[in-house]
Amino acid sequence: MVGIYLSRTGNTRHCIEKLVMLLDENAKVLPIEDEDAVLQIMETDFIVLGYPTQFSNAPLMVRDFIRENASIWKGKRILCVATMGAFSGDGAGCTARILKKYGAIIAGGLHIHMPDSVCDSKLLKKSLSENKQIVKTADQKIESAAARIAKGIYPREGLGFIYHLTGLFGQRLWFYGKTQHYSNRVKISDACVGCGLCAAKCPMHNVTMQDGRPKTNGKCTMCYRCVSSCPKQAITLLGKEVQEQCRFEKYI
Ligand SMILES: Cc1cc2nc3c(=O)[nH]c(=O)nc-3n(C[C@H](O)[C@H](O)[C@H](O)COP(=O)(O)O)c2cc1C
Ligand code: SF4
Ligand code: SF4
Repeated sequence: MVGIYLSRTGNTRHCIEKLVMLLDENAKVLPIEDEDAVLQIMETDFIVLGYPTQFSNAPLMVRDFIRENASIWKGKRILCVATMGAFSGDGAGCTARILKKYGAIIAGGLHIHMPDSVCDSKLLKKSLSENKQIVKTADQKIESAAARIAKGIYPREGLGFIYHLTGLFGQRLWFYGKTQHYSNRVKISDACVGCGLCAAKCPMHNVTMQDGRPKTNGKCTMCYRCVSSCPKQAITLLGKEVQEQCRFEKYI
């Protein structure tokens, strides 16, 4: 077994690490951008694939990873796990449908409600104690899913026709344009001190340092890692101002 995840503020990393460790304490868990990720998938028959929901879709980087490595999925059993701040409809189904096209066997789907990660929007923000409670409830859900999976009973969240319709009409259709292309909307203010952290963290290499200043090249997968970690709160993406630098570690 191997766990592969994309995570921006740490929510999905936590969920996949916890779930995989409960299922197989010797299994490896890797971020999707790790250069070993493809090799690990090729050498394993069971994969737990986790990612954050974006506008009721899977992040483009994850969908592209699946498509660009089309030949590695045939015959693999995959548990698709989508984390979300509120609602996804068919978050797990969004990758399950692509993976099936490449011959994967979808073992199950799991949806986990976690704190919101959109650092520059107030919309879904909760208090610290509410976020701590959300994480506790998520941990209980992961534990109970792992116990059932160990008995061979897999969750089916996000899979199937009704879920598909809910994801489509609940959000995806209205926000279709936001997840079809990489974003060029990363903005960096004059507060930047050129520390280079954003460039070091970006899983898309969308930020690079040039003459001591960060530059972007229009290939942002909206992971919010740079926004949540900039020491000067100099980066915004969808919003105009950083509201909270969301990080999973704050909620435990
Ligand atoms: C650009 C963007 C879009 C999002 N869209 C949704 C959404 O449609 N539904 C939802 O429930 N949460 C949405 N979220 C919240 C994240 O899916 C959620 O906070 C997730 O657990 C973050 O995981 P991470 O810390 O591993 O990146 C969105 C977050 C971002 C950054
Ligand atoms: S992390 Fe912030 S301060 Fe550091 S280089 Fe990036 S934008 Fe500038
Ligand atoms: S530019 Fe920032 S938000 Fe976009 S992919 Fe890179 S780290 Fe993530």
